[in-house]
Amino acid sequence: MEDKEKTDTTSDFSSKGRRSFLKLALAISVIAAVGGISSIVRSISAPAQSQVSSGTTSTETGSNGFPKTLVASLSSLQVNQPIYFNYPLGDEPNILVKLGVAVTDGVGPNSDIVAYSQICQHLGCLYAFQAKGSSPKCNSSYTAAGPIGYCCCHGSVYDFANDAKVLSGPAPHPVPRVVLDVDSSGNIYAVGMSGVNIYGHPNGDLQG
Ligand code: FES
Repeated sequence: MEDKEKTDTTSDFSSKGRRSFLKLALAISVIAAVGGISSIVRSISAPAQSQVSSGTTSTETGSNGFPKTLVASLSSLQVNQPIYFNYPLGDEPNILVKLGVAVTDGVGPNSDIVAYSQICQHLGCLYAFQAKGSSPKCNSSYTAAGPIGYCCCHGSVYDFANDAKVLSGPAPHPVPRVVLDVDSSGNIYAVGMSGVNIYGHPNGDLQG
């Protein structure tokens, strides 16, 4: 009788263990599938990125609870050579670029450094930076009249010299600005996001 109870108890534990394992495996599969689909959608229009950095997150916080993340240094930048970095989350790409001319809200000694979310506000494709006079790979008939972001999915154009305002295309509003801070050593930090919500974040914050 005692042996039977032991056997039943062991069998019960074994059964529960199998069920727990199967639930865990199912949850991991779902998470992996969702992550994979999201990556595929974003990469459909993504330009080749030679520099994609997650930056170095400081223990200090930025504005409104955003992290403070080291993105680049003044000495590492060249005019019209964009740097791609993820912020505020590890899978949210942005473009930082030194434009070579002073612009509204530009930072650095020449007020010519800006950074914006790279996720197009139309349907979430990744757009690419185009310097004045250059053409997107997907549209050789288009020549940028100034520094812009050009989305090859449906042709939205963002004005990098004017707060990423939409110049043309179906995007309903500008991409969010990455708030930058430059310290006395010339280190450039991302310290927040401003403007409209980051695409896919209903509240534009880390809770979305
Ligand atoms: S997703 Fe960028 S224009 Fe449609």
